[in-house]
Amino acid sequence: MQIRAEKPIDQQAIFELNVAAFPGQGEARLIDQLRDHAKLSLSLVAEHASKVVGHIAFSPVTIETNGQTIAHGIGLAPIAVDPDLQKQGIGSALILEGIRQCREKGVSFIVVLGDPAYYSRFGFMPASNYKLEDEYSGGDAFQIYMINPASLPSVGGIVKYVSEFNGLGD
Ligand SMILES: CC(C)(COP(=O)(O)OP(=O)(O)OC[C@H]1O[C@@H](n2cnc3c(N)ncnc32)[C@H](O)[C@@H]1OP(=O)(O)O)[C@@H](O)C(=O)NCCC(=O)NCCS
Repeated sequence: MQIRAEKPIDQQAIFELNVAAFPGQGEARLIDQLRDHAKLSLSLVAEHASKVVGHIAFSPVTIETNGQTIAHGIGLAPIAVDPDLQKQGIGSALILEGIRQCREKGVSFIVVLGDPAYYSRFGFMPASNYKLEDEYSGGDAFQIYMINPASLPSVGGIVKYVSEFNGLGD
């Protein structure tokens, strides 16, 4: 299995993989929109036997405090693994390589909305530890992987994903 950056030729396979992994087409369409609008900060695929079996997307987020944008980071979403190949470490490999590349790019922090039991093993912690909230009432599911704590407003704030996420769940 190889983790690598997506190529144009992967786009259809990434769409189909996300349709297979999620209940609807929302995530698959979201990825296409992020790509079309140049908001895919990082897009990695897991390739096995010449087939795309996993995918992870990252896009920009901002922290807003009192209506002002105070800090910039990255949101991890969505991540999908071929339903026939889950629980074999492919998701973990995508997350670890994504974190490594975000660090290399000088990203200050990564946020995710997901199962704390899963993401805590990679170093994510509740974003509320840093007085940060999301816009979707995620509670403890809203987590942060901190790279540069000095980049954060001490008073906290609201983390905003790009507007393409607003259509998710419609
Ligand atoms: C979430 C998701 C991406 C995880 O991918 P994955 O490849 O199954 O993840 P991993 O294999 O790294 O880890 C998943 C679990 O399998 C376990 N596992 C990892 N390697 C394993 C192995 N070799 N043998 C048995 N179990 C293993 C992990 O410990 C973990 O255990 P958990 O049940 O306690 O969480 C995948 O389940 C998926 O696509 N889900 C549908 C889409 C979705 O909900 N995405 C997340 C929201 S954006």
